[in-house]
Amino acid sequence: MAKLPAAILEAWTDREGPVVLTTVSPSGVPNSIYATCVATYEDEGVLVANNYFKKTLENLAGGGKATLLFLRKSGKSYQIKGSIEYFTQGPVFDHMKTWNPPQHPGRGVARLRAEQIYSGAEQLL
Ligand SMILES: Cc1cc2nc3c(=O)[nH]c(=O)nc-3n(C[C@H](O)[C@H](O)[C@H](O)COP(=O)(O)O)c2cc1C
Repeated sequence: MAKLPAAILEAWTDREGPVVLTTVSPSGVPNSIYATCVATYEDEGVLVANNYFKKTLENLAGGGKATLLFLRKSGKSYQIKGSIEYFTQGPVFDHMKTWNPPQHPGRGVARLRAEQIYSGAEQLL
């Protein structure tokens, strides 16, 4: 699995505002949500805590592909595309519990493993 390039890790720590996670239903309908309870995971992917997922959770049931879009403070945009998986136990779930704010339920966690990364039209991975 590809490691996240240094440029995206630097942009991630400098991001501003919520990220946008887009998943796809088994019949191909896209669904986008804002998320703030997020973290990188072992330099190879990004985690999004399931605090209030509904359609997102339905879409995650089938695995599949997703994108995560964010802005850094300069206004530059970054998009991570890849395969997404959902965990309700195990090391990825335990990792989420270390940073998800305790006032939110943290029912599970989605892991997006980067396969392609773009900043605007420029491909970084
Ligand atoms: C600014 C903002 C941040 C949010 N962050 C999260 C989050 O980190 N985790 C989460 O489960 N829901 C979060 N939500 C709620 C989701 O955006 C969304 O409303 C929820 O997943 C239900 O939508 P769905 O049915 O499309 O999944 C956030 C909402 C807003 C407006």
